[in-house]
Amino acid sequence: MCGIIGYIGKKNSVGYIIDGLKKLEYRGYDSAGVSILQDGKLVTVRAVGKVAELEKATLQVSPRGTLGIGHTRWATHGKPSEENSHPHTDCSGEIVVVHNGIIENYLVLREQLTALGHRFKSETDTEVIAHLIEENLKHVRSGKEEERLLKAVQKTNKEISGAFAYGVIWTHTPDLLIGVKNQSPLVVGIGKDENFLASDVPAFLQHTNKVLFLEEGEIVLLRAGQVTVLDKNGDEKKPKPTKISWDQKTAQKGGYDHFMLKEIYDQPQALEDTLRTARADFGKILGLDTTAMRGLKQVHIIACGTAYHAGLVGKYYIEQFAGIPVSVDLASEYKYRTIPHQTKTLAIAISQSGETADTIGAIKKAKEFGFRTLAICNVLGSTLTRTCDSTFFTHCGPEISVASTKAFTSQITAMYALAITLGLANGNLSKTAFDKLYRELLRLSKSMGETVKMEYTVRHLTRKIYKADRFIFLGRHVNFPIALEGALKLKEVSYRAAEGFAAGEIKHGPISIIEKGTPVFMLMPQDGLFEKMLSACQECRARGAFVVAITTPGGEAQAKSVSDKVFVVPQTSEFLQPILNVVPLQFLAYWIAKRLGCDIDQPRNLAKSVTVE
Ligand code: M6R
Repeated sequence: MCGIIGYIGKKNSVGYIIDGLKKLEYRGYDSAGVSILQDGKLVTVRAVGKVAELEKATLQVSPRGTLGIGHTRWATHGKPSEENSHPHTDCSGEIVVVHNGIIENYLVLREQLTALGHRFKSETDTEVIAHLIEENLKHVRSGKEEERLLKAVQKTNKEISGAFAYGVIWTHTPDLLIGVKNQSPLVVGIGKDENFLASDVPAFLQHTNKVLFLEEGEIVLLRAGQVTVLDKNGDEKKPKPTKISWDQKTAQKGGYDHFMLKEIYDQPQALEDTLRTARADFGKILGLDTTAMRGLKQVHIIACGTAYHAGLVGKYYIEQFAGIPVSVDLASEYKYRTIPHQTKTLAIAISQSGETADTIGAIKKAKEFGFRTLAICNVLGSTLTRTCDSTFFTHCGPEISVASTKAFTSQITAMYALAITLGLANGNLSKTAFDKLYRELLRLSKSMGETVKMEYTVRHLTRKIYKADRFIFLGRHVNFPIALEGALKLKEVSYRAAEGFAAGEIKHGPISIIEKGTPVFMLMPQDGLFEKMLSACQECRARGAFVVAITTPGGEAQAKSVSDKVFVVPQTSEFLQPILNVVPLQFLAYWIAKRLGCDIDQPRNLAKSVTVE
């Protein structure tokens, strides 16, 4: 977690850094800080809370300088406080560091450095980096200051362990900003007479779309007009910059009050863009030829949070269309379970950011087993995409709101495209059946356009129920994961207790939490399970629940007879229906949170990318 940014150029760096931090706030917002090199000295400003607080504090000090670094924090080691905020300095106050990730051996190092006379000012793991560089500089006596700093950084990297990315400035090297990447994200933005270092592209996208994605173990030396990348052996390499096609407008709110709302409305376009890739030869994208697809014996899906729910839907798809057995694991669990060895396994990691530490750890385990690995991911150049054998990009544009919406529906869409492709390849689907399913998929974006029109109806209902202290979501089959996702969305942004269950399970325990007036949301499109969902409505209503039925055209009258409110979602095929059914639940979470005055885009305790285990 945490977001880091650095600027070196010809202009005052402060504005660039504060603006960049605002774009990185989705990575954490417990506290923030900047350090600017001004007239040979470091001026550091830090503030608890969001970047807006830091901005106010910085205005008071008004530092000026063409080299600076900044940080927005999601606390791991040490509470959110000014002392624990980054940037952190060494004893002399001449070396300053911003860091994302965890230094696992920091306690041992801290003890050793303390014994050598270093004085620590914070409880963080980060501070050891600054002191270690200071210590190592003492032992690199020869060479110019820039060479000495580089050597000290290289030595430091050998001594620290864990996943980390950091940026460092030394007052003795005013024309140099160093960045280090090791298992935490770090990208470089190449501008004209100015260069950037950041945890993610949106931090500098408004200034340049020329991006270098660093590899593990690399060090980058940034000067105003030059970028030098050293590989993990210290040898210079010449990576080719990537041109990012996301524009700044896509990454901004576009007139909506919150990114979450904008991103719900982005979904028709997001599906369209995701499917554009699926129209190409999907087998090729998978990195699998027909023979390899034909021979697959099992699929493992690995993901966290919302992406895990997309994986659960994907299981129904692959088993239905390709007839291949599928297991779906939370990435944090997959790493620790015994996996019976089986050849011809495809491991699929689903992740919006491609930086989720648990997912990356799990896919590495799958690789160790020799499984072929595929990422379904939204972020070009992310660690996951570089770890897997191949990637299917969801192309839904930057998702800024911590609560995932458009990434979720794009991930399910990708899973569907994958499942029917596998089914055609292994003969489980005839060409006629494939074509029919494919045509339905291509119509999805249009139906999504109709579905997002439901906002007003959902918003109206939330007036009545937003004060309830618990909410329940029920679904069956492909809509069961949607019940889980509806509950997660609501919990995340409104802090209300919410639970999702398979509707058939309710009588095995969960029904006991229903009281008079408890809102229960029933996902009940008109499919083979509609009758069963009608019974579940009756069971909940008999216990006093306020039942909201989410159905499709044709189911309205019957749903009305057993519920207090009916939402009608546009109809698509049975297997694609969950992609539309989640939309009213996204609006529901948004509007309940809004009525409760919650911080919708940056809910408490959360961060967009969970880059620590
Ligand atoms: O970037 P990822 O898709 O790997 O993130 C996984 C989860 O952390 C993420 O889906 C999380 O649950 C979201 N905040 C849900 O809205």
